[in-house]
Amino acid sequence: MKKITRSDLAGFGVDTRLVLGGRDPAGFHGFVNPPVYHGSTVLAQTVEELTARRQRYVYARRGTPTSDAFEEAMRGLEGGAGVVLCPSGLSAVSTALLSVLSAGDHLLMTDSAYGPARHLCEGVLRRMGIETTYYDPRVGEGISDLVRPGSTKAIYMESPGSLTFEIQDVPAIAEVARRHGAVTILDNTWATPLLFKAHEHGVDLSVTAGTKYILGHSDAMFGTVSASAGAWARLKSFHGDCGLCVGPDDIFLALRGLRTMSLRLRHHEASALHLARWLKTRAEVARVLHPALPDDPGHAIWKRDFKGSSGLFSIILAPGPDAAVEAFLDGLKLFGLGYSWGGFESLALPFECRESRTATTWDPGGPAVRLHIGLEDPQDLLADLEQGLARLHPA
Ligand SMILES: Cc1ncc(COP(=O)(O)O)c(C=O)c1O
Repeated sequence: MKKITRSDLAGFGVDTRLVLGGRDPAGFHGFVNPPVYHGSTVLAQTVEELTARRQRYVYARRGTPTSDAFEEAMRGLEGGAGVVLCPSGLSAVSTALLSVLSAGDHLLMTDSAYGPARHLCEGVLRRMGIETTYYDPRVGEGISDLVRPGSTKAIYMESPGSLTFEIQDVPAIAEVARRHGAVTILDNTWATPLLFKAHEHGVDLSVTAGTKYILGHSDAMFGTVSASAGAWARLKSFHGDCGLCVGPDDIFLALRGLRTMSLRLRHHEASALHLARWLKTRAEVARVLHPALPDDPGHAIWKRDFKGSSGLFSIILAPGPDAAVEAFLDGLKLFGLGYSWGGFESLALPFECRESRTATTWDPGGPAVRLHIGLEDPQDLLADLEQGLARLHPA
């Protein structure tokens, strides 16, 4: 197999790039995958080599062939200037925010953000003298009314919101941010760089909780931040100064996950859409929150900007007692009850986010349940949900 260069890779389709990215069999005795380097110290041959720092690697925290392989594969998918690795998705969120914010700065944060990201703003960022204003995720270019010229240094987005599925007009918000010299940060975990090209849509820092679709097997924690050319130096330097790095076995799992991510996402998408459409026909379900459904409020923007959808969406049940919702969920055989998503297995999560919204009102009119549709046979999942819905209204 000939050595594949960066420019060769750029000419291939995304599935081919997922297979080839970050690999160099000739550099590793022909082995298909790069080795997993367990290490800390890197030895130099001479004092001159040590002090001149001429070695490719000097200390494992600053990079190994294993981390290089993943970063290069991910950089190719994101299409940015560089990628840093973090030990969880939340640490990728905090790394992105803290790399650009300083005391006295103002942050605009979507009201639909992942709860712990919001908690970070209310706790650590506030303590550091950074003020956060929450905005309606559907604000679009109206965000310009909220920008404080000179002090708004970052605008944070999550599209769609990972509980309530509002789609944001990322290009419009990015344009406003650019006019005001503010950095844009997007949590792109739902779509991954396969389904939404953050940098092409004007985003400076694209965050993914790799714990979800990148690893895809619910077996480790991982996060990435990809930077555009203008944001890269600051991100790289902040990440290095904080001493952030990821253990080699987890990077190996992430790289292994990348190889099949496109295939898995296609299955998640098809099954989720099948079930979302079926749930819409059910009298027990008042609403389905899924941006790929034509009557979803975010559908037009989703269709304009995204290349597909993944396996996570929510439903609002017709009003009923809590005990009935518990009976629905507790009796499910194939859906686990759990806080994560993005793995091969299906999950259900009842949620209430009224308390954590300040710029918008969350009043869905019935109990809300988030579903992650895994890789099981969709007909089995449908039967499980059908039996569950029957438990909402016992005879
Ligand atoms: C949208 C989103 N972003 C970030 C995170 C944080 O990822 P992690 O759990 O890997 O810290 C999550 C986790 O559920 C998430 O759903």
